[in-house]
Amino acid sequence: MNRLDIIQALMRQKSFKNYLEIGVENGHIFFRIKSSFKVAVDPKFIFDASRRFGKAILNPYNLNNQYFEKTSDDFFAQDAKQVFAGKKLQLALVDGMHEYHFALRDVENALNYMDDNGVIIMHDCNPQTAGAAGRFEDWEVGEWNGDVWKTIIHLRSQRPDLTVFVLDCDQGLGIVTRKKPESTLNYTPAQIDALTYDDLVKDRQKLLNLKSTDYFYEYFGLQK
Ligand SMILES: C[S@@+](CC[C@H](N)C(=O)[O-])C[C@H]1O[C@@H](n2cnc3c(N)ncnc32)[C@H](O)[C@@H]1O
Repeated sequence: MNRLDIIQALMRQKSFKNYLEIGVENGHIFFRIKSSFKVAVDPKFIFDASRRFGKAILNPYNLNNQYFEKTSDDFFAQDAKQVFAGKKLQLALVDGMHEYHFALRDVENALNYMDDNGVIIMHDCNPQTAGAAGRFEDWEVGEWNGDVWKTIIHLRSQRPDLTVFVLDCDQGLGIVTRKKPESTLNYTPAQIDALTYDDLVKDRQKLLNLKSTDYFYEYFGLQK
């Protein structure tokens, strides 16, 4: 199971129509989503007008896409109010800058425009090596998930209005919904800043509220 499976299952079975992707790159996921209202945000899209056109032929939903070639912070400061006027966000993939405070701002900003039943999916929440799990400036080679895992700990500690868990697949898919959580954590932002990858390894299950992929269907009451 990967992020596309999850997005498609939610779109189909919950009849979601309004989709935002932060961090789109070449559109590998974005162009495949079948939804009438799709918004793409990335400071550097890795596609040109001809690829956009080709993707609109393959999937006509892409004809109505809105593209914002800028950082997510700039998008939320300059455009989001108008983009989501009269249209609540139902599903968001947060996959931009993979650092704790960036991903946190993306989630908090997206929540401002999200329907009560909406869902935020966060990619890269369950890094498997210390090298993959650090800050961008410390990253050298190989996979980089960043420290988005700290964003999960932050939300589980500071937001008692949100249920947050991580599905154990596709580098860790964080799921955020507006619902009172069954379990919370008790870390301050300063304590979270100081956490290391070793701390994550010692208590991964509990810190991330790590769940099997079956739990996704159970939690949302969806058919496999
Ligand atoms: C891993 S890629 C996204 C992959 C894509 N979501 C997918 O699933 O195929 C991360 C993207 O985040 C973008 N990015 C980096 N900083 C960003 C920021 N501040 N705001 C939005 N996007 C950002 C990068 O340009 C890059 O294209």
